[in-house]
Amino acid sequence: MNLIELIKSRRSIRQFQPKVLDHQILLDCIDAARVAPSAANRQPLHYILVTEREQVDMIFPLLRWAGYIQPHGDPQPGQRPTAYLIVLIDEEIGEKWKYHDVGAAVENFILAAWSYGIGSCWLASVNRSALRSFYQIPAKYTIDTVVALGYPAEEPLLEKSDETVRYWKDADGQLHVPKRTIDAIVHLNGFNRKE
Ligand SMILES: Cc1cc2nc3c(=O)[nH]c(=O)nc-3n(C[C@H](O)[C@H](O)[C@H](O)COP(=O)(O)O)c2cc1C
Repeated sequence: MNLIELIKSRRSIRQFQPKVLDHQILLDCIDAARVAPSAANRQPLHYILVTEREQVDMIFPLLRWAGYIQPHGDPQPGQRPTAYLIVLIDEEIGEKWKYHDVGAAVENFILAAWSYGIGSCWLASVNRSALRSFYQIPAKYTIDTVVALGYPAEEPLLEKSDETVRYWKDADGQLHVPKRTIDAIVHLNGFNRKE
């Protein structure tokens, strides 16, 4: 699979196989995040990699899944994530473009994971105060987001749609994910020009 195919084939995964992830592979994915573009090269991001079973179990109820179709997008028993990456911003280092850093780094991480066949779901709906107290995270670090990880047990389908942004599950439980068409978002040599 080339890079473009890899990028386009990635979907958020919310059902996972109960298979342990390799530690070195996960570190390699974090290494891909480490070298992402960073505004003024400040590199304000830190990561807590969570693979221990008890901690993985503790984190699950702190997350909210697939808001448009709740509770049908929730990972089912036996299909929960097997690891998590907690993304932290050092507020003493980060400057005004720090959230762009997060986007670049997390996408690198997610795509690196996908290149190893590891599925992921990036989550902003996170109980940050519970995470902060459990891990005793110092106040100067913002808890940005969490990436849930595991080998996929679902294969969401990409749909072209300018009608809706709401993903849906069909009668067979298949997740469909609409994306705007290229025609709707590209302006050629001028705003609203198509040719
Ligand atoms: C910053 C960010 C936060 C997100 N937060 C959540 C979340 O809290 N829960 C969830 O289930 N999915 C979350 N998602 C996943 C989106 O729902 C998903 O990316 C979107 O529906 C498009 O699907 P796709 O990733 O398969 O292309 C988040 C995605 C991003 C980029």
